[in-house]
Amino acid sequence: MPHLAMDIPDFETLRKLGAGGQGTVWLARRQSDGLRAAIKIILHIHADNARARARFEQGVSVLAALDDPGIVRHLAFGTLPTGELWHATEFVPGRNLTEYLDDLDARFGVQRGSQSRLAVEEIVAVFVRVCRAVEAAHRVGVIHRDLKPTNIILRDDGEPVILDFGHATSYAGDDRAQLTVTGEFVGSPRYAAPEQVLCQPGRVDERPSPRPSPGGRGGPASTHVGRSTARSVPARP
Ligand SMILES: Nc1ncnc2c1ncn2[C@@H]1O[C@H](COP(=O)(O)OP(=O)(O)OP(=O)(O)O)[C@@H](O)[C@H]1O
Ligand SMILES: [Mg+2]
Repeated sequence: MPHLAMDIPDFETLRKLGAGGQGTVWLARRQSDGLRAAIKIILHIHADNARARARFEQGVSVLAALDDPGIVRHLAFGTLPTGELWHATEFVPGRNLTEYLDDLDARFGVQRGSQSRLAVEEIVAVFVRVCRAVEAAHRVGVIHRDLKPTNIILRDDGEPVILDFGHATSYAGDDRAQLTVTGEFVGSPRYAAPEQVLCQPGRVDERPSPRPSPGGRGGPASTHVGRSTARSVPARP
């Protein structure tokens, strides 16, 4: 899709950063001031799909209202001439948590138990910082609903930044009824809380899942701690 650059006002796309279930993310440069951006092209949502567009716009406006160093900054959004939606956020230099774990594996190795314990301590330290950013969103009633390793970047200075609020929702004040899931699953099944997967009305909120699961805030951490500790425990003869 190299021609997309000219279709997004004020942004020049430079290279592909990656692709996920919803579309493709491009590194871009904002022409007016040179700011680096990450632009997600939502391939399966077209402007004429009113419901999908409304949900996408909800995610955009939820993010636009957030202001926290641990949460990616919204820049702009719009529609391509082909009808697909795009969303520009600030580019966060660093590694996403999947890449971070792969680096840890390479550094500490699979066999060396004592060093893997250090890896777990490092992961927990990152997780605590992720929780602080999640907490900032929860304080203003925003629920991300898709916390997972590729949606968290560990900046080069070690601070995590949460990305991808495309499935986020919010409630005003204490009105939890606004969080009702209308029988439609959003998120990533591998990381979602059970009540989210089961689309249980009114149950998906900022509170920890009542059932043990890799969902909610625990998802990315349990994935990483689980992978790391599983590999650090030697197999019994
Ligand atoms: N603002 C950003 N700054 C830096 N990298 C980003 C930014 N936004 C996305 N990325 C990276 O772009 C890649 C693709 O992201 P994308 O959200 O499309 O995929 P995903 O998270 O794997 O899947 P999903 O579609 O389920 O969210 C990921 O590696 C992600 O870390
Ligand atoms: Mg993502």
